[in-house]
Amino acid sequence: MKQIDKHAYGPWALVTGASSGIGEEFARQAAASGINVVLVARREERLREVAAELTARYEVQARVAALDLGRDQILGPVREATDDLDIGLVVSNAGTGNPGPFTSLPHERLREAVQLNVITHLDLAHHFGQRLAARGRGGIVLVSAVAAAGGLPYMANDSAAKAYVLNLGEALHAELRQAGVHVTVLVPVLVATPVVARIGLDKLGLSAEPITPGQAAGEALAALAEGRVSTLERAEMSGAFEDMKDAVTEMIRARLAASQPAH
Ligand SMILES: NC(=O)c1ccc[n+]([C@@H]2O[C@H](COP(=O)([O-])OP(=O)(O)OC[C@H]3O[C@@H](n4cnc5c(N)ncnc54)[C@H](OP(=O)(O)O)[C@@H]3O)[C@@H](O)[C@H]2O)c1
Repeated sequence: MKQIDKHAYGPWALVTGASSGIGEEFARQAAASGINVVLVARREERLREVAAELTARYEVQARVAALDLGRDQILGPVREATDDLDIGLVVSNAGTGNPGPFTSLPHERLREAVQLNVITHLDLAHHFGQRLAARGRGGIVLVSAVAAAGGLPYMANDSAAKAYVLNLGEALHAELRQAGVHVTVLVPVLVATPVVARIGLDKLGLSAEPITPGQAAGEALAALAEGRVSTLERAEMSGAFEDMKDAVTEMIRARLAASQPAH
């Protein structure tokens, strides 16, 4: 578990997608460092369980904000939950994947995915980028994916969205450093979480071994504290991306073939 400096990144952290997987681990590692946490996701009951565990185990405060970040205008409720707090760390992690042939996926679902996987990162980075820069210290972690390294067939919308997050984070890393704010991008390849199992990525036989959500969150917090732009250099992304591209393409084609009636 990675501990980070609560004077640099506290006294409060905002973590989106804190009800599961990597986000829950970000919240746990922030709390273990003595930083109070605001936990955001849709499942309020699950967030309350996480909050109860963290307050009991690490003697920090935890606030729960049950929000659907795939909806428009999320800044209003996020501000209601955070305006009275001195936020020093923002982890914009909530996200999901929708594999399938682009033109067969419902248009509305793809738009909601852009809202969650692009616009919400934009809104949070802009609002908290201003706040953190004004106080002259703090950190922002944006969660992208190795799929950001290129156009991933059958995850076209997802890979395009993750490329936005990666480029945004890389640029802000340089821009906000002047103001004392550290920005880093987590670029996961394969992390053993529920979304990976739902999509079937864990069954693809990728050359990358899955890591735990705790390892993924720890790598990102280490990169943040060390002033690195991301957890995976651009040069290292291409091999993992090509491997995933072939495997995802094969998986979806096999699923499509299985769903076609035999002639
Ligand atoms: N696991 C991997 O190998 C991998 C690889 C590449 C990228 N990533 C990225 O890592 C991030 C975390 O994913 P994970 O693997 O930890 O998956 P996960 O265990 O499924 O967690 C996803 C989190 O996002 C939240 N979320 C999803 N839709 C939301 C919405 N509309 N509004 C608010 N919260 C929402 C979920 O909470 P609720 O359901 O309670 O809303 C949950 O807390 C995502 O951005 C994902 O794209 C993961």
